[in-house]
Amino acid sequence: MHNHEISIKFTIFESLEELSDNDKELLQKAIDVRDHAYAPYSDFKVGASVLLDTGEIFLGNNQENAAYPSGICAERVAIWSAMASVPHGKIKKIFISACSGKTVVDRPVAPCGACRQAIAEYETKQLSSIEIFFTGETGKIVKANSIKDLLPFMFDNSMLL
Ligand code: THU
Repeated sequence: MHNHEISIKFTIFESLEELSDNDKELLQKAIDVRDHAYAPYSDFKVGASVLLDTGEIFLGNNQENAAYPSGICAERVAIWSAMASVPHGKIKKIFISACSGKTVVDRPVAPCGACRQAIAEYETKQLSSIEIFFTGETGKIVKANSIKDLLPFMFDNSMLL
């Protein structure tokens, strides 16, 4: 028997002001698109911006449905929009921001498991890491340098062989 330990790395920024100008702009785009989310059922709005190696930026927000499971998260809207338009593009960064109509979300909102799996797919495909920034409506911003830090033991296509 062997015991193992995995440590993950992440950076915490106290506020948007601590980000570089480029990153600030990208997070601001996620915040702006968040406010146009269609979330009448949860009243929880999420926005995401994706930066490609081409310099192009794609946006997404959550789109809910009266048949609840038919809704989709902001991250996957942004990622799939980017990959649909620029199939050979590499995702460099994704920014995520969340807010609620019920309370002030003052802590970082991490991407859900399904969105982590979608990020993992493209990180594996493009052979380069994706930086993931996530925050609430106010407060700290967390930055992970790779999906590997958010999804240890991830399932990828190497397991299909
Ligand atoms: N949601 C996202 O858009 N991204 C996440 O990572 C977590 C959850 C959305 C889905 C649903 O519309 C609402 O937030 C409440 O779960």
